[in-house]
Amino acid sequence: MDPQTPATRALALRELLNTYGHQYYVLDAPSVPDAEYDRLFRELQLLEAAHPELLTTDSPTQRVGGKPLDVFTSVRHAIPMLSIRSETDTTASGAEHFDERIRKELGLDISDELVEYVAELKFDGLAMSLRYEDHVLVQAATRGDGEWGEDVTQNIRTIGQIPLRLPADAPKLLEVRGEVYMARADFEALNDRQRTRIAAGEKNEKTFVNPRNAAAGAVRQLDSTIAAQRPLSFFAYGLGDITPQSEGGIVFSSHFDFLLQLKKWGFPVAKQTQCVKGAAGLVQFHQAIAQERDGLPFDIDGVVYKVNSLEAQQRLGFVTREPRWAVAHKYPAQEELTTVQAIEVQVGRTGKLTPVAKLAPVFVGGVTVTNATLHNEDEARRKDVRVGDTVIVRRAGDVIPEVVSVVFEKRMQDAQLFTMPSHCPVCSSLAVREEGEADYRCTGGLFCSAQRKQAVLHFAHRRAVEIEDLGDKLVEQLVDAGIVNTLPDLYKLGLTALSQLDRMAEKSAANVLAGIEKSKSTTLPKFLFGLGIRHVGEATAKELSRHFGTLDAIMDATLDQLLQVSDVGPTVAQSIRTFFDQAHNREVVEQLKACGVHWKEGVASAGASLPLTGQTFVLTGTLQTMGRDEAQAKLEMLGAKVSGSVSKKTHAVVAGAEAGSKLEKAQSLGVTVLDESAFQELLASHASYLN
Ligand code: IVH
Repeated sequence: MDPQTPATRALALRELLNTYGHQYYVLDAPSVPDAEYDRLFRELQLLEAAHPELLTTDSPTQRVGGKPLDVFTSVRHAIPMLSIRSETDTTASGAEHFDERIRKELGLDISDELVEYVAELKFDGLAMSLRYEDHVLVQAATRGDGEWGEDVTQNIRTIGQIPLRLPADAPKLLEVRGEVYMARADFEALNDRQRTRIAAGEKNEKTFVNPRNAAAGAVRQLDSTIAAQRPLSFFAYGLGDITPQSEGGIVFSSHFDFLLQLKKWGFPVAKQTQCVKGAAGLVQFHQAIAQERDGLPFDIDGVVYKVNSLEAQQRLGFVTREPRWAVAHKYPAQEELTTVQAIEVQVGRTGKLTPVAKLAPVFVGGVTVTNATLHNEDEARRKDVRVGDTVIVRRAGDVIPEVVSVVFEKRMQDAQLFTMPSHCPVCSSLAVREEGEADYRCTGGLFCSAQRKQAVLHFAHRRAVEIEDLGDKLVEQLVDAGIVNTLPDLYKLGLTALSQLDRMAEKSAANVLAGIEKSKSTTLPKFLFGLGIRHVGEATAKELSRHFGTLDAIMDATLDQLLQVSDVGPTVAQSIRTFFDQAHNREVVEQLKACGVHWKEGVASAGASLPLTGQTFVLTGTLQTMGRDEAQAKLEMLGAKVSGSVSKKTHAVVAGAEAGSKLEKAQSLGVTVLDESAFQELLASHASYLN
């Protein structure tokens, strides 16, 4: 490496960070892992601290975020939107360092009492400032550079969780700060819809890399009707401007009190938010959230600690744009560098060939990753991943690990371009890519054992007919041994055949059989989804069942009739028709029924409406008499839609034991709330539709 003077190094770092920062903040297309960016950033901060003469106004250390894009109106924040210092030590002792610093700054010694903190999640979304004047939301602005943001009010108004009007006891002027984000399930569903659109040939549609990018894209959407279709969520965590005390405004004594008040005014505050004491309290929180992290319904990249007392916060003050009273304590990076050892092609349920990068094992976000999907030929080409390459892998939550990008500087000269095979790697049938399709498919159909295995696993999935204990290792053996060739074969399995398999004691064989027996009693949507018809996901299966009521009606529906179903377009309709036009598929259905697989057929809702058609329900809390899935299934049989969030349009909220924020939200919006017995009464009054 060239010997560098501090001046040339600072210049190089600034340029690098500006480029990376622009890609990350403005273009939403990061090219390096966050951890690498943070490292370079720290290096520059240290360099500038040691050589103050090198500090320039254009240094990335001197600004909070990226410049706003030109397309939205710029608005000046009444109170700047600050950034948080990141604790560099990602182990639990990072929390102790913060507490030590705070105690020192506040002049406390060992005999003094513990400092009270609010411990929060560090949401991985976009910071937003919501301005309410005379109790009405008048402006929503992004952080931008901290001083100037973008006015995205139209888009933010579409977020059901954000109150448009505040109760009368709220101050006349209030700015609430928080994070706009996309829940993982919403992100998956959005990408599913995007894939359907792409399959239907819609131009300019794309899938999103992660929930944060999807949320950023939605917030920056110029057309707010499109933004409205992107399911965003919000958590409040801070205060901006507020009516001053001199004008009769409220004064809070602690951050926690403020958050409690926000909750009362209708803002979502994460339920994990906790008031804790001293370093031990912070460490405990840090560890508890590390455990909970993967199971959270949204992405976080760490936790945030804030001194609770607002008076102490004032005394602590700020260093440049970062308050001394808060710190972000991140978890180890979810992105890491590793090398590609091979690229394998896997065969899916519908014969889809997926290139998968086999990686040198790397520890990312708490697990060791050895595989990352490359999705399809175009994606593999776009990223240009080759064997031997050094790549950035990312893992977010439960999402399958992904190759974010290749570090081209490290590529070997002789690295070979990846090409898709012309034949199926499992059954050697021809692989074809049809026009307008992104995927190559094996043409072997159920001749291909890989497809048979996947078809069985899909049918047995929890969201399909649900066969407990029928895992992939077992299915692999059953198919490879030729014991299970079609779905009905599952119902012909006996104890002797099963217990002869590898690692299958009689006890576990009996469990599998019990699971198979139990799966016979199912619902029409689950069965339909389980058949694995291309383009028929869970939601479409539900819509079809609701619309037609019976399987026979669906099997015999014409293209035109199928197109009447909401969510069903030409591609989906054709796929359903093609599936049921094949005699062997009808045969499978008949045989499954003959084996005892059954469900309650409903009443067609097309034309004639069901008792709850057009009504949206929300389930919250724990019901004593039935599980949530069952409650949802019953409501759907009555024609209702079941949604995850409460809005003014919600018809009723069914609140079981320990109902939380959704119940509060319903009450604040004046939405009908049914307790368990009222819900039972409602079901009883429509019993004829449920039997
Ligand atoms: S407080 C006092 N609290 O982190 C500092 N920020 O660098 C004001 N963030 O982009 C922010 N979760 O969007 C705060 N619980 C939380 C947060 C949080 C995520 C984000 C915020 C900003 C960045 C701060």
